[in-house]
Amino acid sequence: MTPVELHNGDFAWWQRGVIYQIYPRSFQDSNGDGIGDLAGITQRLDYLRWLGVDAIWLSPVNPSPMADFGYDVSDYVGIDPIFGTLDDFDNLLAETHRRGMKLIMDFVPNHTSDQHPWFLESRASADNPKRDWYVWRDARPSGAAPNNWLSEFGGPAWTRDEITGQYYYHAYLPQQPDLNWRNPAVREAMHQALHFWLARGVDGFRLDTVHHLFEDPGLTDNPPNPDFRPGMSPTLTFARKHQVDLPEVQEVLAGFRRVTDAYDARLLVGEAYLPLEKVMAYYGTPHAPGVQLPFNFHLIGATWKASAIGDLITQYDGLLPPGCWPNWVLGNHDRTRIASRVGADSAALATMLLLTLRGTPTLYYADELGLADVPISPEQVRDPWELRVPGFGSGRDPVRTPMPWDGSPHAGFTTATPWLPLNGDFAVRNVESQRADAASLLRLTRDLIALRQRTPALCVGGYGIIESRGDVLTYERLWGEQRLAIALNFSGTTVYTPLPHTRVVLSTVGPRTAELPGSLLCLRPFEGAIIEPTQQLHGGFSA
Ligand code: GLC
Repeated sequence: MTPVELHNGDFAWWQRGVIYQIYPRSFQDSNGDGIGDLAGITQRLDYLRWLGVDAIWLSPVNPSPMADFGYDVSDYVGIDPIFGTLDDFDNLLAETHRRGMKLIMDFVPNHTSDQHPWFLESRASADNPKRDWYVWRDARPSGAAPNNWLSEFGGPAWTRDEITGQYYYHAYLPQQPDLNWRNPAVREAMHQALHFWLARGVDGFRLDTVHHLFEDPGLTDNPPNPDFRPGMSPTLTFARKHQVDLPEVQEVLAGFRRVTDAYDARLLVGEAYLPLEKVMAYYGTPHAPGVQLPFNFHLIGATWKASAIGDLITQYDGLLPPGCWPNWVLGNHDRTRIASRVGADSAALATMLLLTLRGTPTLYYADELGLADVPISPEQVRDPWELRVPGFGSGRDPVRTPMPWDGSPHAGFTTATPWLPLNGDFAVRNVESQRADAASLLRLTRDLIALRQRTPALCVGGYGIIESRGDVLTYERLWGEQRLAIALNFSGTTVYTPLPHTRVVLSTVGPRTAELPGSLLCLRPFEGAIIEPTQQLHGGFSA
């Protein structure tokens, strides 16, 4: 491989780096209550350093009644006692920085908890000064809710409040009333909260559900969802046309960006589940930049076929506005884990894909172990979404189970009963055993991260060809004279694909030292390989 150097100043840390998402309740318990906490995460930082990730994103750790496990915040400038104290947080931040890593917090701007003092004031009377901090509307003459909008988590998006008889709006749970972002006082208060954490040294924020920040002030009823089919969750009956993605969102994101840009090298990531064309607006404009990384979730729902993934890569790269940086997500705390979506056989292939695409990858905790969704019995359900709309597969508990560290009782996660069950195979599927096994997914993930970090073509390079041929997806990554090709076999059979190469740099199915250079690359079932091509690839690879 042609050695080329990348100078530190050439790209921002979040362009070069790999982000690792931690669901704090489930990473490491340090005080024996069965729930993970900040001191626990600090204890495990050396693992993350060993794995080689550059930044950690924590799902919310602010004070919360936990109706939605922290996504219902009752104080934006504190730490929930379940997770520890502000001192624990400062310690985690300092220890993360000491190891050369960054820390990104979750920030939930769309709604607060119904126990937040702002909402308690707001609901107290119609003329309370904080009344307009939330979205209050009169009932229809019949007494019914103001319109047909539905909550993401089941039932109407409006709840009638006894004190005044008005309804308040909540895109999610009734315990998560939406803030009114048309009120400048709300913007100011939220900016102050960002400053609080930025001044402490936090490296960025993942902004929760920003496409939901505004709703149509005319309260137009939503049309029926044309894609709705019998058997689908009733939350999908109507298209959310008038509830999401209003143009005013971009102003708010630009305001957040002005706040973070006043500090050195901070990052904003935005969560918006939208079609790719619409996601692009969340980058903002050169005059009013938005978030640096609007999450690209489209691998999560993609058809797991070489041609479909190839088309997605080409489409996404083609849509990116000039100067905007791509990113890819394979899993998170809301969606079925990758090992369950594509099957255990393809988990390594998926990891190679994530870590060789152009753009910042976000890795979800325990996906590096190939953890699958853990079955949750009806008595074990904790997720409010599943409790409110049972039986449609909405439940997120299966993807939020504790990190299995070793084969000891409770997998080294806790000394108590864990808040959610462990994976049934934790005795074998755990960090300790995979660290000791050179053929494990954990070791492959670490090797891929290390290769990415030291290889500019992989870390920041552009694409050469992106093509699929049958079940094999091939793409090149280029940086100056450095050129690598990635070939991924999505099928369960051995295939030979025309790919002139000198060397296989890394394979998902173990070392290939005996490989002879040649013009045909042999890929075993579900194998992915990073190779040095002998010449620029072009032509002959049509789908
Ligand atoms: C986001 C979060 C999800 C949460 C919801 C409401 O989608 O990722 O976990 O329940 O917003 O805050």
